[in-house]
Amino acid sequence: MKDFSGKLAVITGGGTGMGRELARALVAEGCDVAMCDVSAPNMTETKALCEKNAPQGVRILTHEADVSDETQVIAFRNAVAREFDTDNINLLFNNAGIAGAGSFVTDERDEWERTFNICWNGVYLCARAFMPMLVASSEGHIINTSSVNGFWASIGPQTPHTAYSASKFAVKGFTEALVTDLRINAPHVKASVVMPGHIGTQIVQNSAAVHGRTGVLDNVGTRMSEDEQADFEARADAFENNAPMSAAEAAQVILNGVREERWRILVGEDAKRLDEAVRKAPEEAYEESFFGILIPGVGDEDAS
Ligand SMILES: NC(=O)c1ccc[n+]([C@@H]2O[C@H](COP(=O)([O-])OP(=O)(O)OC[C@H]3O[C@@H](n4cnc5c(N)ncnc54)[C@H](O)[C@@H]3O)[C@@H](O)[C@H]2O)c1
Repeated sequence: MKDFSGKLAVITGGGTGMGRELARALVAEGCDVAMCDVSAPNMTETKALCEKNAPQGVRILTHEADVSDETQVIAFRNAVAREFDTDNINLLFNNAGIAGAGSFVTDERDEWERTFNICWNGVYLCARAFMPMLVASSEGHIINTSSVNGFWASIGPQTPHTAYSASKFAVKGFTEALVTDLRINAPHVKASVVMPGHIGTQIVQNSAAVHGRTGVLDNVGTRMSEDEQADFEARADAFENNAPMSAAEAAQVILNGVREERWRILVGEDAKRLDEAVRKAPEEAYEESFFGILIPGVGDEDAS
């Protein structure tokens, strides 16, 4: 798909971050957008930002839905069909995701399963719900967001990262297998797996909110002490503002990958460096020394 104008895109997790920036970029190119998120206020903000650059006649739908709940996903799919009066869509961006439950040994099972279910089941359920609409289109593309944690199950030697990594490996495996499935059974539909490195977004705040650790979302009580809150805010701020790539830049990389019909879309130089390093020395990937590859300049000579 070289041109998004006149197409219809579905985006999960459009409230902030890469989902918001995908929506903004697509709308600016004349693409209708239907987004879902668990945060209605954030989607309202995304919609207002999209409208600033929307060509005449482009439509934007916001729909509150949790992608890990099949009833809500089906209600979202039905809302898209109704609002746009169509049985087909062109693009499905399975972008919604959260972090959490790093340790399988010590973290709560509830949090582990919430993380896994949003990051993996969310992709699965939306693919189930929307695949018939992609197949019904003349030109379709499913874009599933994994992570560098879809090929490297770590964020460093001192920090377990099990739920997120397991889900992102699942997203990557599913999408890679879809490439062949679609080629055989629906060749007009393409599949891409997106593997971002560190992108400056509010995923730290949003993940805490979804897990009920902050008061960011309505009806979720705060569970942090003042000190914990201050420390958390500093970490969230650093994650968002010290990243090597912005969400808007990431959205452009993703959309270029879709235009070029690349099935694997690495986002950021850190992602490319990690991909090369893991392939080059898989047995070293979980050793202390390997973590240096994430630091700009360190390991460049190895990855070249
Ligand atoms: N930011 C990064 O460094 C990074 C790196 C690799 C992969 N990713 C992945 O990129 C995707 C987008 O993340 P982001 O960084 O833009 O974060 P973000 O938090 O800014 O955006 C994610 C959006 O998903 C929404 N969401 C969370 N749970 C949901 C649910 N159950 N149903 C519907 N919506 C839900 C959030 O409210 C938020 O609006 C995620 O899948 C994430 O895992 C991010």
